[in-house]
Amino acid sequence: MKKYYAGAAFLALAIFSASGCTRSGGETQTESRYEELADEGEGYINVGFCQVGSESDWRVASTQSFRETFTTENGYYLLYEDAQNKQENQLKAVRSFILQEVDYIILDPVVETGWDGVLQEAKDAGIPVIVTDRKVVVEDESLYTCWVGSDFEQEGRKAGEWLEDYLADRGRGGEKLRLVTLQGTLGSSAQIGRTEGFSQILEQNDSWEMLEYQSGDFTQTKAQEVMEYYLDTYEDIDVAVCENDNMAFGAIDAIQEAGKTCGPDGEIIVISFDAVRAAFEAMLRGEINVAMECNPDQGPLVSDIIRRLEAGEEVEKIQYVKETYFDTSMDLESIMEGRTY
Ligand code: AHR
Repeated sequence: MKKYYAGAAFLALAIFSASGCTRSGGETQTESRYEELADEGEGYINVGFCQVGSESDWRVASTQSFRETFTTENGYYLLYEDAQNKQENQLKAVRSFILQEVDYIILDPVVETGWDGVLQEAKDAGIPVIVTDRKVVVEDESLYTCWVGSDFEQEGRKAGEWLEDYLADRGRGGEKLRLVTLQGTLGSSAQIGRTEGFSQILEQNDSWEMLEYQSGDFTQTKAQEVMEYYLDTYEDIDVAVCENDNMAFGAIDAIQEAGKTCGPDGEIIVISFDAVRAAFEAMLRGEINVAMECNPDQGPLVSDIIRRLEAGEEVEKIQYVKETYFDTSMDLESIMEGRTY
């Protein structure tokens, strides 16, 4: 809002001297771009948002939530960076936001570790950092203002408890069960929490055997490959724990291509996380058994935090979003009507 010009000009010059940008009408193209941004950002709260990527339906919904919230109509000027699932891109983006002297940085970190240096730079520059969705693990907690997101460990535990109840309801409690897990991006909070939470319930069930964990990187394509490998390697699989919906879609494709069935009436129980619209459709088709909700609509919550900080109020360091789960025993069509993602 107030500091934008000097940083933008500095960045423009830095980029110009490093890359030798071409001139047009006596001015560098880079300089004109940042001056344009500086003009556009004048009078607004300037926010730099560094998103993980666009690997899943959940991520698309998350981006939409931030884009729809951080609008000029709402008093914001948004600088958006898609890191394409790479931490190195996120480090560059945060440094670029610091050089541009934005008022706030919003960071959805790909992985939890490796943030101490860049967050110290943001703190030294006096820019509050709000972490959203996935967490950062840093030695000095004062390097970020607060975090808002999902309780991933709780999601994992709830998935395990759901499976216990599901089996008990069908008289299958204590039955020998072979499971596989398709993990999310290794080192991300969503992967760490869901794996940990589910394994807490796994440990309490002696008859459950986890055959293998492999990462499908939260994408449908990689998950399909992982599930194909599981089906080739293990003769009997009773449960596929997919750490997001898109990986469940990939697993379902592999299961069906292998001539097997899944879902409530099939051979393999499919447990998923996120509960996006396409997962509801897959539950209605009888392909997914349950989707543990992960709420991507975090833009308004982050905006509320910024408004409170602007008013000089204290904000809570850790803020969880409310979440539930959905399975095929529910009236999914009616539930879907009231949902935005
Ligand atoms: O961090 C949230 C996870 O990241 C979502 O479960 C997944 O779909 C996304 O890619």
